[in-house]
Amino acid sequence: MNAISKISDTDRYARCIQSSKRVRWDIDEDVIRGRHFDVADKFLPDGLSLTDAFTTLSNDEKRLVSQIQGRTYANVFGLVERFIIAKVLELSHDHWFGDQVALEALVRFSDEELKHQALFRRIDAMVSDVLPAGYRFDVDANAVAHAVLGKSTWAVLALTLDIELFTQLHYRQSIEPDTELSELFKDVFLYHWKEESQHAMLDELEWVRHDAGLTAEQRDRAVDEFIDLVAAVDGILQAQAKADAGYFVMTCGRVVHEDEARAIESAFLKAYRWQYIHSGAQHPKFGKVLSSLITENQSQRIQAALATLQ
Ligand SMILES: [Fe+2]
Ligand SMILES: [Fe+2]
Repeated sequence: MNAISKISDTDRYARCIQSSKRVRWDIDEDVIRGRHFDVADKFLPDGLSLTDAFTTLSNDEKRLVSQIQGRTYANVFGLVERFIIAKVLELSHDHWFGDQVALEALVRFSDEELKHQALFRRIDAMVSDVLPAGYRFDVDANAVAHAVLGKSTWAVLALTLDIELFTQLHYRQSIEPDTELSELFKDVFLYHWKEESQHAMLDELEWVRHDAGLTAEQRDRAVDEFIDLVAAVDGILQAQAKADAGYFVMTCGRVVHEDEARAIESAFLKAYRWQYIHSGAQHPKFGKVLSSLITENQSQRIQAALATLQ
């Protein structure tokens, strides 16, 4: 037995609490600090907005794309955090009369996600102050949460770990030297990631704990449900790519013909699939935890499903 495997689950939950207390931040005092967005800045780094895929656009237009995507970033997080909190609160029942350290860790997790939703609502409103009218994000967070929570806990935790791990990658992208990137948006990535890193540890603990109680048949069904959930996320991304491309065409200040509009919509979708599906699915930690729980055949089913979303 190596030193790492000697750490008990209670100790792992306790570490998450320590880190939650250490990094805890306030929306106004730490993240926003009285600042405003400036349309002279990019909001998302090129590595996330995939500006190279927007081959027909000028640099100024690519900056607008990064701003639209930044607003959508805030809205997508606000959306997924709605079902993540509900699932975490549900899982906390398992600890009510058991490990009180685990219970505290999950309560803090939920509290942080409520704060993140408030942060992302603020970011959406602040971006709307500086960008032209007409932006749409018509996805109902509660309807999505109901649909997601209709799937098994195993599948929801798989999707949640995927999401919470990619915030780390997004933060790393944003700290790459980029003098045109909004300092305020950089801080959104930084502060969000600080609390997400312990969420990802808790997702893993809860996923592995829950998995241990499943039969092989239940797990096999859950793998298909995870694939269904990823497809549902992709459906949302397709609709938003269409909405955001339409908004870009409407506000970019020049005539965009149909072929180019279609190419712009494809580039938005490519960027969103990278941001919300592949950057998490390709995260080494996600692959490691997932492969420790599933068979080779199940892994191939997931890989085949992900490969269709290119
Ligand atoms: Fe969050
Ligand atoms: Fe989180």
